[in-house]
Amino acid sequence: RSAAPAFHGDHQQGILTPAQRSAAFVALDVTTASRAELGDLLRTITERARFLTTGGTPPDPGLTAPPRDSGVLGPTVVPDGLTVTLSVGASLFDGRYGLASAKPVKLRTMDEFPDDSLRREVCDGDLLLQVCADDRDAVTHAVREIARATRGGMGVRWRQDGFVSPPRPSGTPRNLMGFKDGTSNPDTGDAALMKQLVWAHGGSGEPAWVTGGSYHVVRVIRMLVEFWDRVNLHEQENMIGRRRDTGAPLTASAEHDDPHFENDPTGDVIQLDAHIRLANPRTKASADQRMLRRAYNYDGGVDANGTLDMGLVFVAFNQDLDRQFVAVQKRLAGEPLTDYIQPFGGGYYFALPGARDSSDWLGRSML
Ligand code: HEM
Repeated sequence: RSAAPAFHGDHQQGILTPAQRSAAFVALDVTTASRAELGDLLRTITERARFLTTGGTPPDPGLTAPPRDSGVLGPTVVPDGLTVTLSVGASLFDGRYGLASAKPVKLRTMDEFPDDSLRREVCDGDLLLQVCADDRDAVTHAVREIARATRGGMGVRWRQDGFVSPPRPSGTPRNLMGFKDGTSNPDTGDAALMKQLVWAHGGSGEPAWVTGGSYHVVRVIRMLVEFWDRVNLHEQENMIGRRRDTGAPLTASAEHDDPHFENDPTGDVIQLDAHIRLANPRTKASADQRMLRRAYNYDGGVDANGTLDMGLVFVAFNQDLDRQFVAVQKRLAGEPLTDYIQPFGGGYYFALPGARDSSDWLGRSML
């Protein structure tokens, strides 16, 4: 069970927060007529997020008005480790609200990479809400209460829900290919490292308000699990560069051992095109390209052909979209894993800096 993360601060919750078990990613298009109304919308989202993540008893509206809360979590709303993270997409800065000069410079419609088959109706959007909690009902409740409070101001563009497995049997949770996912992540307890890799800074081209925010990448990637399940384990492990059972690099024995890419004394090798080797070649230049990943699994049932529809909601936070995510994604082009995955949705967003105190709201400094 997670303790309730603090709502106020320099940064939003749901970024360094260890991934809770259940999540919803909801991309929204804003429909308000003016910039002032956009401000009202962001204030309302902040106020709802503050209430839902800290919990409490909703006020009694009396006998003639509808209840103030759906009641799904009982008469008193419990936080349940809830985090609500609000991010903005490039289209919010398209001119409707006179915000062109406030746009984080790297923010744009998601790039289409060579191995992608993007369905644009499930990409991008003006806003992204990343809602995570320990239990599924708390996620559902939060999405519903935020939707209720913002009706008329925004509409859902796409939504993808996800879950994280408990440790099986220990260590990092597994993705739906059976491999531990998230092992080699920068240490979120290292503030200097987070300053180098996660948090954006105003100046040198970026508007001042971005300080404390982060480029938020979401890629919804289907896994062709029927094909994957017909590949022998040795080949699967070579594609990733790690063992499926322990998560250890192929050149070591424990999950958190460092991989050896050159001249390993054991004679074991991690292939040149293995996922972890391409993603992080561990050179001097690649140290600055690391990103904070916070992925979720999804299970969408079956498609129209009766094929299993499941995969990964890849999520990463970056100080600089191009230096980190884009550089790594380009290096992964054509990797053997691409035969078994199909990126089709998601987007580039910018997670707003945190709300400082109870009078502040998310996006205030951007407007
Ligand atoms: C590491 C799977 C997509 C970047 C890993 C690992 C696995 C994995 C099993 C090793 C364990 C770990 O350190 O987390 C997958 C699968 C994907 C996918 C199944 C698609 C469905 C991506 C994408 C990116 C990415 C789109 C970024 C462009 C990384 C990075 C690492 C990693 C940076 C850590 C490498 C290291 O430092 O050793 N991935 N991944 N992955 N992946 Fe992925």
